[in-house]
Order: sequence, then C-alpha cells, then structure tokens
Amino acid sequence: MNEHERTALITGASRGLGLALARALARGGWRVIIDARDPVALEVARADLAQHSHVIAIAGDVADAAHRGALAAAARELGGLDAIVNNASILGPSPQPELLDYPLDVLEQVYHTNVIAPLALIQAARAHLRPAARIVNITSDAGVEAYPGWGGYGSSKAALEQLSAILAAELGELRVYWVDPGDMRTQMHQEAFPGEDISDRPLPEASVPGLVELLEGAHPSGRYKAREVDFANARQR
Ligand SMILES: NC(=O)c1ccc[n+]([C@@H]2O[C@H](COP(=O)([O-])OP(=O)(O)OC[C@H]3O[C@@H](n4cnc5c(N)ncnc54)[C@H](OP(=O)(O)O)[C@@H]3O)[C@@H](O)[C@H]2O)c1
Repeated sequence: MNEHERTALITGASRGLGLALARALARGGWRVIIDARDPVALEVARADLAQHSHVIAIAGDVADAAHRGALAAAARELGGLDAIVNNASILGPSPQPELLDYPLDVLEQVYHTNVIAPLALIQAARAHLRPAARIVNITSDAGVEAYPGWGGYGSSKAALEQLSAILAAELGELRVYWVDPGDMRTQMHQEAFPGEDISDRPLPEASVPGLVELLEGAHPSGRYKAREVDFANARQR
C-alpha cells in the first residue's frame, strides 16, 4: 500500500492527545478525519493539520449516532480506513465525586461517551476498515488502578479495556490496541486536578511516538503504555 494513502479517523482531535497524534500522522503523510464538539476549536485544528495533509473535520459528539454516521461516511468518501483511534473521552464532574455520591445520570453520560460510543463508532465504520486496519482505544491507568474518587471515569475505562480485549479476540485478522497514554498536561488532566499546578506533567506529544509505532508497526493486539512501546518490533507495511 502506498503509505501516502493511509487514512486515520481520530476522535477528540481539537486539542490534547488527539490533536498531537493527528499532527504527527498528518506530517507523516496520513490523511485524517477528526472530530470534537466545539466547532471553533475544531476549525483551528483543521486549518493547522491541512498544512500537512488532507483533513476532514466534522464537529459533533461521539455519543450521537448521526454524528458517528457522518464520520463513517467520511471514511467511505476517502476510500476506507487504516486506523480508528477512539480518543475522545470525558472525565465527568470536576472535582470527581466518590462513588456513593456520584450522580447516576452523569455516570450514564460518562459510560455512553467512554464505552458505548467507541464500540458504536467501530460498528458504524466496520464496512470501511481496510484489511490491515488498526483499532486504538485510548484508556488510562485509572482503568486498572483503584484510585479513590476515580470510580466513574475509571470504571468506564476498565469497561473499555475489557471491551477492547474481547474485540481483539473476536477480530483475529485486525489488530486492536488499548493504550494508556500516561499522565499528560491537558485540559482533561487539569479538570481532574482542579486548582493544582500540573506543569510537571509531560505534554501529550510525549505519548505520540508510541501510538504512531503501534499504527505503523506490526505489534500484536493488546494493552500498551504509549511511552513504553517497543520500537525494535519489525515494521510491516
Ligand atoms: N490527560 C491525561 O493525563 C490522561 C491520562 C490517561 C488517559 N487519558 C485519555 O487520553 C485521551 C485524551 O485526553 P486529553 O487529556 O487529550 O483530553 P482533552 O485535552 O480534554 O481533549 C479531549 C478532546 O476530545 C474532544 N471531546 C471530548 N468529548 C467529546 C465528545 N463527546 N465527542 C467528540 N469529541 C469530544 C475534546 O473537544 P470538545 O470538548 O470540543 O468536544 C478534545 O478535542 C482521553 O481518552 C483520556 O481519557 C488522558
């Protein structure tokens, strides 16, 4: 395959990790389809990325089926996908309440965005996945560690992890990665630690090379930490 024809669908790419990954892929010749809810921030990101590659930006909420349909239609328009990166995610309330005080309507929203929507997007785009396509679901250490106060977001990421593992078992021919990017200096991280100085956390760009390696390399399906991906793994185009 001509590497300049590769296409990635990355959700939540107006800022943070999604934008950093989209920028790296666009600079590497990938065409990108991106989304975010805020159309103004998304347009700024689109204009930035369009300096490097072909970009389709569609404003909307991944929790909305019609929006996911529009993303899938864009994938069809570009002739298929080599990667879906389910990156868009919400934290829930800030500060995060403990589970016994967690508003259940908000918990449903967190699960809808962080668990149901990623699967629903894969379902919507399945007909447009190229044979060697990669599915990347962005998870968190909060999905495996029991941090007090992280019960809503953390349990949603735990569900995303198990969903990813079963998807990998069911989709033997496609590679499925669920990836912990590590702590990053982003808006979500600031919301998780309101009022705290998070300037010591690495920028999201530090988590990007590992993700690109997973997208372009030949690693087996599984759980990875973005900053610990083995770059010695043989590449397969
Ligand atoms: N930051 C960390 O320390 C950290 C640690 C572990 C894992 N993670 C994970 O890394 C991923 C990226 O997080 P980040 O820190 O880069 O977050 P961020 O800076 O808050 O960026 C989130 C991006 O997703 C978009 N988004 C949020 N909800 C959306 C929705 N419902 N539909 C469409 N787009 C949506 C946002 O734009 P709009 O708000 O305009 O929609 C934004 O572009 C997430 O999956 C997060 O759980 C982050």
